[in-house]
Amino acid sequence: PRHAQKSVKDYIRTIVDFPKEGIIFRDVTTLFQDARGFRMAVDQLLSPYAGEQIDKVVGLEARGFILGGAVAHQLTVGFVPIRKKGKLPGAVLSEAYQLEYGEAVMEIHDDAIKPGERVLIVDDLLATGGTAKAAIKLCERLGAEVIGCAFVIDLPDLGGRKLLEDGGVDVFSLVSYDGA
Ligand code: PRP
Ligand code: MG
Repeated sequence: PRHAQKSVKDYIRTIVDFPKEGIIFRDVTTLFQDARGFRMAVDQLLSPYAGEQIDKVVGLEARGFILGGAVAHQLTVGFVPIRKKGKLPGAVLSEAYQLEYGEAVMEIHDDAIKPGERVLIVDDLLATGGTAKAAIKLCERLGAEVIGCAFVIDLPDLGGRKLLEDGGVDVFSLVSYDGA
């Protein structure tokens, strides 16, 4: 064919030594800013869940908001943000998780999901899985059933996929980079 069809991976930009030396940064802004790329990513994120009941989409600050909002709109379901500590105005549940150096805290409004609701968690990237694991715990503490976690990018060598799957959660990703 004259034009090979571009894939999601083709829209992701790689920037070396960001945010610091030795880190290979996978930049999804170049995916989001392209009309075809963004539509393709959102459609593909949803494809494994066709026919499944989903009551809410949960997006993880910050880049998970962009994808999660679009996914929720496409499904015509509500969107729930999980935010970094101190950003949500109402009563919250909190979960601490490990960063490369030290700890961070994620929060969810305590009335955002009702017991028994089926939720899909969406984020741009799965690395160590610490962020997603905290999100799963928050959803489960509210009585939600996490039907899956969907990511654009998986860095399997960092162990996140295994961590989540060992915890019994279904993981789906569009693009994977080895050795990252
Ligand atoms: C990045 C990425 C994921 C998380 C993955 O977010 O967007 O949310 O790290 O890492 P993990 O699997 O090791 O937890 P970051 O914390 O940089 O914040 P941002 O999305 O607000 O930029
Ligand atoms: Mg993030």
